[in-house]
Amino acid sequence: MFLKNTWYVAAWSHEVSSTTLFSRTILNTPVVLWRDGDGAVVALQDRCPHRGAPLSKGRIEDGTVRCMYHGLKFDTHGKCVQIPAQDRIPPAACVNKFTVVERNKWIWIWMGDAALADLSLIPDTFWLESPDWRYQPDYIHYDVDYFLIADNLLDFSHLPFLHETTLGGSSGYAESRATVDRLDNGVKITRWFTDGPPAPFVKNLTGWTDNVDRWNIYDFVLPGVLLMDSGSAPVGSGAQQGGRDGAVQFRSAQALTPETENSSHYFFSQAHDFALDQPAVTAQLHADIVAAFKEDWDMIHAQHRSLALDPNFKMMPLPVDNALGHFRWLMNKRIAAEQSLSAAA
Ligand code: FES
Ligand SMILES: [Fe+2]
Repeated sequence: MFLKNTWYVAAWSHEVSSTTLFSRTILNTPVVLWRDGDGAVVALQDRCPHRGAPLSKGRIEDGTVRCMYHGLKFDTHGKCVQIPAQDRIPPAACVNKFTVVERNKWIWIWMGDAALADLSLIPDTFWLESPDWRYQPDYIHYDVDYFLIADNLLDFSHLPFLHETTLGGSSGYAESRATVDRLDNGVKITRWFTDGPPAPFVKNLTGWTDNVDRWNIYDFVLPGVLLMDSGSAPVGSGAQQGGRDGAVQFRSAQALTPETENSSHYFFSQAHDFALDQPAVTAQLHADIVAAFKEDWDMIHAQHRSLALDPNFKMMPLPVDNALGHFRWLMNKRIAAEQSLSAAA
């Protein structure tokens, strides 16, 4: 069961063009995306109403799309405007159009009732389009239920174990306690690890060897978007009080979008605010993040295979799972509310 009346990331801006049809399945629904003559993103159901061929195997003609099985042509609203060798176009010859908004390099899609699509609910990821930050956009495909990835992102106590040589480093990090604040639409997690060794990836970037004060402060909001302020600063330089002198700072934007019940899209980026004129630093940071995310990918797929062997297995909650529990509770509550609303309608 998916939450439908919410904004999901459908794609990075650079994935969608005016010359090629781009296909991505979201919440079990095939979607075709492209740009019209004005560069605006169009998203239609990627299934021709004639015999069900994917429109994404068709071609763009003057900003519209033609199915290349038997030639039906659709405008950007999903309405069929031409059927070869036939004058009358039946009313059923149309496909769903989805509401999409392009903001800060992400294309957001609303898979539910378009009348409820509220632009003010789109999370702010300003640093993805700011001259003060650098990053490399990326994407990973997962063959697991997206809740398993959300669980991973909601508990960073795994950093020093799973990411010992990449993001984590000292196991002292796991002993630091995270503060979890419940939000209406998710959780806010704050974790400080003071006077500890820098994370391996920070060592790689800065050459620092002295201890630092480290922080990970992030919101994880419905339906699965992580927005994080993190960094490291010289010990006692006042970072915890809000000062950032001498610090290296990062902003992370990560978004999970279910593909099916058992597969997920994972959009991610880690931006830095230093060495802005050094693409090699951006590339190094990205490579380190990708290496760490591969560690997550391996573990979460292994966990998925393990869970699949025993459908009756019950996870054992620990205090570190506080944020996971709240997020799952919130999602289930919203999904149930949505279901009862649509049942009543
Ligand atoms: S399936 Fe698209 S035109 Fe026939
Ligand atoms: Fe991880």
